[in-house]
Amino acid sequence: MQKMWQGRFSEASSELLEAFNASIEFDKELYAQDIAGSKAHAKMLGKCKIIEDEAVNKILEGLDQVKSEIENGEFKFNIADEDIHMAVEKRLSQIIGAEFGGKLHTARSRNDQVALDFRLFVLEANLDLAKLLLNLIKTLNSIAKEHKSTLMPGFTHLQHAQPVSLAYHLLAYAFMFSRDYDRLISSHKRNNLSPLGSCAMAGTPHPIDREMVANELGFNGITPNAMDSVSDRDFALELLFNLSVVFTHTSRLCEELILWSSSEFGYIAISDKFSTGSSIMPQKKNPDVAELIRGKTGRIYGNLISLLTTMKSLPLAYNKDMQEDKECVFDSVKNAKNSLIILNAMIEEIKFNKENMLKATKIGHLSATDLADYLVKQKQIPFRQAHFITGKCVALAESLGKDLSELSLNELQSVEPNISADVLELLTLESSKEARKSLGGTSDYSVDIQLELIDKFIKSQEI
Ligand code: ARG
Repeated sequence: MQKMWQGRFSEASSELLEAFNASIEFDKELYAQDIAGSKAHAKMLGKCKIIEDEAVNKILEGLDQVKSEIENGEFKFNIADEDIHMAVEKRLSQIIGAEFGGKLHTARSRNDQVALDFRLFVLEANLDLAKLLLNLIKTLNSIAKEHKSTLMPGFTHLQHAQPVSLAYHLLAYAFMFSRDYDRLISSHKRNNLSPLGSCAMAGTPHPIDREMVANELGFNGITPNAMDSVSDRDFALELLFNLSVVFTHTSRLCEELILWSSSEFGYIAISDKFSTGSSIMPQKKNPDVAELIRGKTGRIYGNLISLLTTMKSLPLAYNKDMQEDKECVFDSVKNAKNSLIILNAMIEEIKFNKENMLKATKIGHLSATDLADYLVKQKQIPFRQAHFITGKCVALAESLGKDLSELSLNELQSVEPNISADVLELLTLESSKEARKSLGGTSDYSVDIQLELIDKFIKSQEI
């Protein structure tokens, strides 16, 4: 089959080359962006009197037909067409005739065309993913509002540390996801510039209007340097990095959900709708969704490393290596969208077992820091010494098979005679949580401020 670039060749392509070189099997994903870009380009060529109005009208109608053929499944994708850009253009010329179709590629190269299509795809993905993150933040926020007084152990080193509220723990994730959201939006803003009109790498002698094309396609402006514009894939790298951070966060959350749903913890029950069974052990209920999301982190990180490595050391400007930019991005976007959708749906249906959480807070002497703080504040004992005395009290509780919060005044005084009755109410888990009124702390007062921040964050997003 005759290639669009056949002119200077005397021999036909090897079939091996055709199969190896073609990207059509995956870049057909970009058909809508390609056609939108071509329509904007054709209108601009008409307005700038580079091609005549008749050609513009035919091109626009023809492109609409190509689009509906693709969407109806009638379009025949052929590996010999190499990529989506040439496949669309070739079909256009079949529909409207080469005398008109052949004018579309004036003042354009596949280099700026692919840079445009891919950028449009990535920009849209940024917004779609940000919306999904926002849904997750809303879900976490509304569950948090119901659990300000649900006590659970806070952990360090996966060891019981201090009592916190479930609201507080969930808010930690809401704040992580709000930063992820901001990163996607900021990347969208930074990259919202049209590269079209950069042509092969050095611009064009035709009197084009790049701003018109940018406006038509909803960009905020145009990229300033053609050489950079056809060879830059930062916008895609940013997305892959941003998704890597998202998956760092989702995999931590999923890891906790997996732990919390185990018999050892028993803090949550994941709905049957989002659990799976075992083919051999009839009693099993497995948290596959959370595990799969945690597992997908591998490919999400891998995709970032893949594109970073592809782009490294490429001489300016376009190189065919860059055709390798798409599959990793498509894969990350698809998996991130699916993961965020199902994670949100699963979390909405989680049942929290408050009793088990409360029981767990009574293991591990979680109010020990409060006793030390009491000795410092009320008895003017230096912190180091207070820490030592508290350690003795913990040892006593251990020997009696009790939690520190369950020791009587007499027992406490047997370690430190200075301790008075006012300590008892301070040692309850509830007052330990409530004592932490510092900004960012776990008391209701501090958590209300955090809830308000997330509420404001949610309200201020208009995408
Ligand atoms: N399929 C190519 C890609 O994805 C399109 C650009 C080809 N440009 C070229 N000069 N061969 O990168």
